[in-house]
Amino acid sequence: MSAPDDAELARLQAEAEAAEAALALAQAKAALAAAKAAAARAGAQGAEETTDAEDVAPASDPQNPPSPQEPTPAHAPVPTPTPAPAAPGPLDADEVARITTGYSFEAATLDLGALLNGEPVPAAQVRIPLAMMNRHGLVAGATGTGKTRTLQGLAEQLAAKGVPVFAADIKGDLSGVATPGVASDKLTARTAAIGQDWHPEASAVEFFALGGIGRGVPVRATVSGFGPLLLSKVLGLNETQESSLGLVFHYADAQGLALVDLSDLRAVLTYLTSDEGKPELKSLGGLSPATAGVILRELITFADGGADVFFGEPEFDVADFVRTAADGRGIVSLLEVPGVADKPALFSTFLMYLLAELFELLPEVGDADKPKLVFFFDEAHLLFRDASKDFLAQIVQTVRLIRSKGVGVFFVTQTPKDLPGDVLAQLGSRVQHALRAFTPDDAKALRATVGTYPKSGYDLERTLQELGTGEAIVTVMSEKGAPTPVAWTRLRAPQGLMSPTPDAEIDSAVAASPLLARYGTPIDRESAREILTAKMNAAADAEAAALAEKQRLEAEKELAKQQAAIAKADAAAEKERQREFDRLMKATGGSTRTRTTRKADASPIDQILNSKSTQTILNSVIRGMFGTGRRR
Ligand SMILES: Nc1ncnc2c1ncn2[C@@H]1O[C@H](COP(=O)(O)OP(=O)(O)OP(=O)(O)O)[C@@H](O)[C@H]1O
Ligand SMILES: [Mg+2]
Repeated sequence: MSAPDDAELARLQAEAEAAEAALALAQAKAALAAAKAAAARAGAQGAEETTDAEDVAPASDPQNPPSPQEPTPAHAPVPTPTPAPAAPGPLDADEVARITTGYSFEAATLDLGALLNGEPVPAAQVRIPLAMMNRHGLVAGATGTGKTRTLQGLAEQLAAKGVPVFAADIKGDLSGVATPGVASDKLTARTAAIGQDWHPEASAVEFFALGGIGRGVPVRATVSGFGPLLLSKVLGLNETQESSLGLVFHYADAQGLALVDLSDLRAVLTYLTSDEGKPELKSLGGLSPATAGVILRELITFADGGADVFFGEPEFDVADFVRTAADGRGIVSLLEVPGVADKPALFSTFLMYLLAELFELLPEVGDADKPKLVFFFDEAHLLFRDASKDFLAQIVQTVRLIRSKGVGVFFVTQTPKDLPGDVLAQLGSRVQHALRAFTPDDAKALRATVGTYPKSGYDLERTLQELGTGEAIVTVMSEKGAPTPVAWTRLRAPQGLMSPTPDAEIDSAVAASPLLARYGTPIDRESAREILTAKMNAAADAEAAALAEKQRLEAEKELAKQQAAIAKADAAAEKERQREFDRLMKATGGSTRTRTTRKADASPIDQILNSKSTQTILNSVIRGMFGTGRRR
């Protein structure tokens, strides 16, 4: 018989651990029976008081995390004393052994917690192989069930193992990761029971803030960089408008019009809908003036709502999320977003933008022993709400491909139903906290969730409602790429603070950040707005010059016409004068000649011109023709 290989050894070791676990269980049974008897004596009132970790550990009191002794299920029936030696939990020894084996890995892991089978089973540790963190994951659960602490625990362990982490701090309650946690008897009891060697520890954290709103180094994107698809999402455009906006971006690119901030895009749309821009709008094809007008209006509303600060330069370089501290720990980049909580579509789309940027930036990596970065996508349901087909397709594509760049994405949301099937199918690890089934919709979501799990020894529809705070149904992807057995897990407690880091400390961390010099001050360089303003000003100048030239030509024409009229009048007067002269000559015969001769100091023409009637005719013609008498 050949020597056992590593896998065989691991299996044997796991079996030994399982046997040990079974033994521990047997030993625990007596204690449990006694505890349950005591609980029964205390009556339902006692059970009521200790059903939820939140009840004994208000969020405002980080010193009082839940105690391991407390029966945590929120909706569990009041326990009835069970005589020993019945199994305390839903799983038998074989199933416990299967879980123990299923979560024993050779390479580095992140520790999620210990199996909870009525009581914690510290020998059955539930873990995720570090190398599988780029197979993505889901942390789900009803509100207050422990999602953020799970995220915090994962982030801390990743960072400690040299993996940079990005997470959006939606409620501001993740910032505690930057401060050591506070020990308490309850916490120590809880952590010891699950085999966690808990000690307070802070992670290296860099705080960021969208557009500089809130506490953190400002993160901005240029409009060009953000792109038409994401912008359509935040503007709430329909699919036709979305493709029209794509044409506008295309036009701006082709014309060398830099779309840096929202005013640039506004200038391009204004130009295209103006008289000067109309021919260019036409040449774009497929973009109607009406649609361009609608987009422009939406954009103005969006910018006026305060969104303009998120766009501009300096544009954030996502490489700054992929950093390690001098001591080799990964840096946890926290995007503080409470300040933009009223713009959920914006920040969720921004997160998608950052992820897409990471995809563009990072090179392909082969199978690595740990990820390059893990990206936690909190409040993920906001991203998918009202998303267009193209937008969804882009998310699915990004999530699928970014794995090969060594980036793991963990979505954090209330129920798996919040994510489209195409995305859900790509999530290797699942940490499902308690779900509630208060409404028919909840019940439907619960059943749908149950349907997505592999077969297990649990009645999941019931178990998912019974999970206590800080507990979850877990299945992850093994090193071999197969799903691990479903395990009811009591999760480890984060070692950082479970409440926010004080504002003053965040402020001083931000002030000391080396990134502030690069991103702290917005800059405004020449972009589409300036170029188009100049272009439209030039067009206006040209129009004014053309108008002046037209007026000049008209005046000249008028002058020529008047001159011609004068000449005609002169000719007519001359003719009349001649006729008068002839008539006089005829009437006076030769005798008038003397008189005429006597009057020879005035020529006959002069005489006529000086006659009153002739003067009246000429003067009136001249005045009539020249108005104010230009001829003079
Ligand atoms: N792993 C854990 N260890 C110890 N205590 C925990 C753990 N998980 C949760 N808790 C307790 O439960 C409280 C609520 O957890 P958390 O804030 O993570 O819930 P949540 O699901 O993120 O809620 P929300 O949906 O409101 O954001 C914590 O403040 C803490 O007291
Ligand atoms: Mg939370």
